[in-house]
Amino acid sequence: MNLSLTPSFPVRGRAGNFLLWGDTMRVAFSDAFLTGHPDIDGEHLEIFEIINAVADAIAEREFEKCENLVSSFLNVCRDHFRHEEEILAEVNFPRLEEHASFHADLLEKGQNIRLLCKRQVDPSQLDNCFTEMVKFFLEDVVRGDLDFVSFLQHKGVVPIRPEYPVRPDI
Ligand SMILES: [Fe+2]
Ligand SMILES: [Fe+2]
Repeated sequence: MNLSLTPSFPVRGRAGNFLLWGDTMRVAFSDAFLTGHPDIDGEHLEIFEIINAVADAIAEREFEKCENLVSSFLNVCRDHFRHEEEILAEVNFPRLEEHASFHADLLEKGQNIRLLCKRQVDPSQLDNCFTEMVKFFLEDVVRGDLDFVSFLQHKGVVPIRPEYPVRPDI
């Protein structure tokens, strides 16, 4: 399946994946990110809100707050991945092992983001940190999780949406 990391809404910004409003970097949640599963979508939204809280902390140059938020970002992501894997196990998702190892790789990447934020020797590093978090989020939500949406639809766990047609090769 050919997946793009670019959300379906208009975007501008350095990474091409987030919006700039005034001087503040923010990411905008789009319907395109919804899997249709209320728990998974709720958790994605929570992760998303932490990312925007980091954006605010960066804008206000609150370095300590930023570091704490990155730690909670990683904790929330870890819990989310575990929960998502449980949900997928319940419906016997055939590519669960692959998806779980994708999560493990992301968490390892997350540790690098945390270190990047910890160094905070210059403000541009915090901007990098933010960009990395956005990429991290999009990797799971846009690239990784789209892999199971059509399967959940096929199983009748989530409603069918025209933008995610059921794959014939589930
Ligand atoms: Fe996810
Ligand atoms: Fe995932």
